[in-house]
Amino acid sequence: MTAPGFGGEVSEYYQRFRRGYAPAVADALVTAFALTRDDVVLDLGCGTGQLTRGLAPRVGAVLGMDPEPAMLDQGRRATPAPNVTWLLGADSDIGALAPVVGAGRLAAVTVAQALHWMDHERLFAAARPLLRPGGGIAVVTNGEPLWLQDTAWSAAVREVVSSYLGTPVHRTCGTDAASQARYADALSAAGYAVDSQVISYVAPLSAEEIVGGVFSAMNPEQLPAAADRPAFTERVRAAVAPHGPLREQVRVRVLTGTR
Ligand SMILES: C[S@@+](CC[C@H](N)C(=O)[O-])C[C@H]1O[C@@H](n2cnc3c(N)ncnc32)[C@H](O)[C@@H]1O
Repeated sequence: MTAPGFGGEVSEYYQRFRRGYAPAVADALVTAFALTRDDVVLDLGCGTGQLTRGLAPRVGAVLGMDPEPAMLDQGRRATPAPNVTWLLGADSDIGALAPVVGAGRLAAVTVAQALHWMDHERLFAAARPLLRPGGGIAVVTNGEPLWLQDTAWSAAVREVVSSYLGTPVHRTCGTDAASQARYADALSAAGYAVDSQVISYVAPLSAEEIVGGVFSAMNPEQLPAAADRPAFTERVRAAVAPHGPLREQVRVRVLTGTR
């Protein structure tokens, strides 16, 4: 059970700078799975709890599960909700939840910005017996990566980050159309009724937030040395300055498979 690099300082950048989810996202999940305060939801790959926190007030209990202890620790500290339980575990561990939550007892399994780290076909099959009728799986992506958007400022960020890493950055983190189609097909093949929606809004963005967001997506060993971070920030600031005021069109994709 090895997490792919969200430990140490990266978890701190993640908690501080990764965008949370608009309330409309949790509301969409409530509607999709008819969630109530009697329900238990598993937020798999919960990270520092971005979606976990939105779900908690809407349901009976949320299990936030992630294989990276540092992410769970940040999530626990940032989430005062008393009905969240933080569990160390990966997608391959969810079968072990059956004796704990009971077969057919989960109302939903949410996977927010994390399915690209998982064996999605195996997960969709393993989750099915845990879900109550009308419940399901939600695959959520939180907008396109900061370095991949179709804007001048994002192209400038892409150039700075590619030059720093010495290789072009093109990771889509599961947000691209081909990945979304693959996930939808796999949900359907596993017997779920598939639906999707996009929740879109515009948010202001600062150079500091861009840098924090980029650092939150690096492996700890890729981070610039602490002493070099101000210079990196200045490079990003100078690169995006001609394209201000900075705004991000955030397109949150919510793909649902209902049991
Ligand atoms: C990009 S973060 C997403 C965090 C949060 N859900 C969000 O929406 O911002 C991806 C998370 O997936 C976790 N992860 C990686 N591999 C995993 C696996 N095999 N099973 C479950 N979670 C995994 C990482 O530790 C990390 O916390």
